[in-house]
Amino acid sequence: MIRLQNIAKVYRTTNIETLALNNISMDIAKGEFLSVMGPSGCGKSTLLNIMGLLDDPSKGSIQIANQETGSLNDKQLAKFRNQKLGFIFQSYHLINDLQVLDNVELPLLYRDTTARERKKLASEALEKVGLSNRMKHFPTQLSGGQRQRVAIARAIVGRPEIILADEPTGNLDSAMGNEIMDILINLNQKEGTTIVMVTHDENMARKTHRLVRLFDGSQVS
Ligand SMILES: Nc1ncnc2c1ncn2[C@@H]1O[C@H](COP(=O)(O)OP(=O)(O)OP(=O)(O)O)[C@@H](O)[C@H]1O
Ligand SMILES: [Mg+2]
Repeated sequence: MIRLQNIAKVYRTTNIETLALNNISMDIAKGEFLSVMGPSGCGKSTLLNIMGLLDDPSKGSIQIANQETGSLNDKQLAKFRNQKLGFIFQSYHLINDLQVLDNVELPLLYRDTTARERKKLASEALEKVGLSNRMKHFPTQLSGGQRQRVAIARAIVGRPEIILADEPTGNLDSAMGNEIMDILINLNQKEGTTIVMVTHDENMARKTHRLVRLFDGSQVS
């Protein structure tokens, strides 16, 4: 489903060069649930952003669902990303002046859907994460765990084949973290969604199919 070949990422600021990723190659199968661990600054978010086509690698190639992504122009890339990929960020990235339902609808705005269809799909996604009773709330009126569930609803509303999650349980207590994890496991098992999750938590990683460890931009296991 995802094939990375010889990916390198160099960040250049005025006087420092950081090799954030060093020659990473990996294959992630359809339906796989992969976790990525490693110390702070080792390149986990960089890897996820590159996999998610949010950032360009300095070297190497990315194939997603058999599509060589390097050959897509910006417009094609935006469309491809919108259709194939769902993102969950550690800091939720919700829009605070939009109600929960409207936040969840956002990815559908770029698609050919009617307002009525969007409402229906967004309410279904919120139901899956157990938030049907918070659709008219604003994000600031929700707990951290609830916000993260809204972010998950937004990631799944367009039924992407792949979900990329950057420390989705990082800001939550362990009970809430386990609930989020159960939602992801359920998506993976019931809908066959391919999931790549960055985590600091060995207990969460243990629940996934495979663990990749990064150190200083290189894959070490
Ligand atoms: N936009 C940027 N410009 C310059 N350097 C960057 C940039 N983004 C990341 N880096 C550097 O690249 C390296 C990898 O960063 P990255 O955010 O991928 O780490 P991480 O493994 O996700 O860490 P954490 O666990 O703290 O989130 C770090 O050394 C970081 O300082
Ligand atoms: Mg990070």
